[in-house]
Amino acid sequence: MTRARVPITRPSLGAEEQAAAARVIGSGWITQGPEVAALEQDLACVLGAKHAVCVSNATSAIELCLRALGVRPGDDVITVSHSFIATANAVVAVGARPVFVDIERDTLGMSPKRLEESLTPKTRAVLCVHQIGIPCDIEGILDVANRAGLPVVEDAACAIGSEIKIGEEWQRIGRPHGVLACFSFHPRKVVTTGDGGAITTNDESLAKRFRLLRQHAMSVSDTIRHASDKVVFEDYLEPAYNYRMTDLQASVGRPQIARLDRIIEERRSLARLYGERLAHQRVFEVPRERANARWNFQTYALRIRRDSGVTQLEAMQYLLDHGVACKRGVQNAHQEIAYQDASRWAQGPGGLAESIAARDEMIQVPLFNGITEEEREHVLKTLLDLAARK
Ligand SMILES: Cc1ncc(COP(=O)(O)O)c(C=O)c1O
Repeated sequence: MTRARVPITRPSLGAEEQAAAARVIGSGWITQGPEVAALEQDLACVLGAKHAVCVSNATSAIELCLRALGVRPGDDVITVSHSFIATANAVVAVGARPVFVDIERDTLGMSPKRLEESLTPKTRAVLCVHQIGIPCDIEGILDVANRAGLPVVEDAACAIGSEIKIGEEWQRIGRPHGVLACFSFHPRKVVTTGDGGAITTNDESLAKRFRLLRQHAMSVSDTIRHASDKVVFEDYLEPAYNYRMTDLQASVGRPQIARLDRIIEERRSLARLYGERLAHQRVFEVPRERANARWNFQTYALRIRRDSGVTQLEAMQYLLDHGVACKRGVQNAHQEIAYQDASRWAQGPGGLAESIAARDEMIQVPLFNGITEEEREHVLKTLLDLAARK
């Protein structure tokens, strides 16, 4: 094997991001400041939300959301196990108990039916996930949650640029449709700032609260203090956090947000091409979009057909042997060592069979902005060769 491995992703950063970072370094202000404020405006505008608040990552974003909604020890938060472990960890971080409900096979997101069956008087909030950028059935989830009087937080860590159709209108995830939505800008995501996150909301008082809590509940922000001609003493109003994003990070995010449409279109056309090229083999189920949801293809995941005679391990080893990086399906928190202590979590009625199947039957393969034609063709050929062996 002489070929270099095709990575699972590669951040699409170029001259614009380099120039932006250089500008911030030259400005002498690199921590949270004007660039963060500008990115927040850009995000709110692009996503159709009234407010966006940038923070250090999506995990801290979810934690802040739950805190701001008053979730506390003794409360239950209904969520999915089928997610990066950060989703469950954020619930545990506020002292609450995650109650895991199963996902739907086609959306990989929370089943509204399972949600409804799992409600109890201890349920304090619903935390759904737009997994790998596929919009979950947010309308079904909101219908159940609204009837129960529960706030919905959307873990949209992977879903920037994904859309759902409400009536005749396409709306971006993060408008938000629940009370709050959280995004990640980790390098595995569609837009990256190295690490980073954001919360979107239409509730001004919640936005104010996030701005306070992310910066040690400081009564006067340091940008205001530094700009003042008069001496200003700040107060620290309650014990809080350093969940700031830096200006250096925000400056790198802004050019990507400005070209978000192009970023998403490139990914979607790659996904269309993968779909066409993989249509006639019998080993992998090719992902399909629902009529009312557009997916940003943050991750391209194939399901190995149960009757194909190919195991997940075999497929992954074959890809690795042929220089194609891959991952198994998204993890399930309840199957991780961190959640072996079953007193940390509960599960709703109906079990977690779809979650377990998705982890064990799916594989994630490279699809990213700027993938070269040679890399793309190598990924497709390797998948087709693997399928042809059966
Ligand atoms: C669904 C989901 N939620 C939360 C996170 C956590 O994001 P971050 O790394 O920005 O904290 C991730 C990251 O992979 C994720 O995929």
